[in-house]
Amino acid sequence: MSGKKIQRLRGFKDILPEETEKWQKAEEIIQKVFHQFNFKEIRVPVLEQNDLFQRSIGDVTDIVQKEMYSFKDRHGDTVAMRPEGTASVVRAYIENNLFYPPSVQKLYYFGAMFRYERPQAGRLRQFHQAGAEVFGSQEPYIDAEVIVALYTILRELNIENPTVHLNSVGCEVCRPNYLSYLKIFFEKNKEGFCPLCQERMLTNPLRVLDCKVESCKNLLSTVEGTYQHLCDNCDTHFEEVKKNLNLLGLTFTLDKFLVRGLDYYTKTAFEITSSSLGSQDAIAGGGRYDKLVEELGGPKTEAVGFAIGLERLISLMPEGRAGKRPDVYMISLGETAKEKAIKLLNDIRKEGFSGEINYQDSLKSSFKKASKGNFRFAILIGDEEVKEGVVSFKDLDAGEQQRISHNASEIIAQMQKLTP
Ligand code: HAM
Repeated sequence: MSGKKIQRLRGFKDILPEETEKWQKAEEIIQKVFHQFNFKEIRVPVLEQNDLFQRSIGDVTDIVQKEMYSFKDRHGDTVAMRPEGTASVVRAYIENNLFYPPSVQKLYYFGAMFRYERPQAGRLRQFHQAGAEVFGSQEPYIDAEVIVALYTILRELNIENPTVHLNSVGCEVCRPNYLSYLKIFFEKNKEGFCPLCQERMLTNPLRVLDCKVESCKNLLSTVEGTYQHLCDNCDTHFEEVKKNLNLLGLTFTLDKFLVRGLDYYTKTAFEITSSSLGSQDAIAGGGRYDKLVEELGGPKTEAVGFAIGLERLISLMPEGRAGKRPDVYMISLGETAKEKAIKLLNDIRKEGFSGEINYQDSLKSSFKKASKGNFRFAILIGDEEVKEGVVSFKDLDAGEQQRISHNASEIIAQMQKLTP
């Protein structure tokens, strides 16, 4: 072989077998919790019309301006790899008339997302999300329930000390008032802000609020946040969300500057962070988006949802949550024994047990592999066993070995007896 090695793209990651067990565990728990909260799964395409994201996430957001994987397809249409799931789920909700008959729709999804960001710890160009979206209710209880579902996932996965940050970003009635308030403040203090903030004051002033530059943070310390400028309707809603969270026993921190990086939010906005994550500390984020369905051509439908960053979540899962351990390691020595072992393993698998066969190594190295692979049982068949119609059956946990009949049903019965 003399070909030049091809490497994966920057910001893209292979998830190798030693890690996938954790992924499967996380996916299993997330799915279980979604079902507990009566969500149903939806699967949407990775590629969509570019306009979908531009119109929903917003023209002046970083995602749309700098981070989209968009290109012209062979027909000349501008398409984009999804940078997030909400826009696609809303498109599917409208296109498939999921609003009919009128009822609350609770949907969840898993999938790869693509953002051309500068890669760093916790920030990838292809990453994965598990998300949930609830359509058709403006009830503040739903906002609280969605946050509690998210928190339940983290708790079930033993994620330590997650912090829930909560804010309300208002609506089309109160947002303009807040923006006027901010504009006056920015006009007076413009010079003290970093160049990026000075640019954002004109293009997307709310984003100035979560600038991480120390001098900007100092200047902002006296500024009031969005939830301090809500109209009566949003204020009542926010109070009710907090009341419901208290009712459900969930502790949260008010974060007046939490504005999120996507433009579609109205009212409730939230994020869950972990201090163990470093500078990219958000495990999950979400909020209410009561206008988006209408803006994308659907009927007036209120909605709220969130997405978890799975790479970040999995990096926080404690070690030792291994996946399912395999049941049988079949060791055969000699040609006749090999045939018998292959057939036996086939029967064992048909009963729902998992297994692997080794007919190439010595006895010693076979047993080494069985213990390294964390198998529960080893079954040894050599020519002598074949002659006598038995197998050597070893319980690898107890370290006990016995000879039993080579009859598949007897072996299976023995395994069932020893497997809880
Ligand atoms: P988001 O805050 O952009 O929200 O992303 C949600 C989560 O995805 C983040 O908290 C983070 O854990 C993860 N994430 C985002 N970008 C990256 C990246 N480059 N590398 C690794 N992980 C990343 C949304 O996407 C909204 N669609 C959430 C939502 C659903 N709002 C309402 N419904």
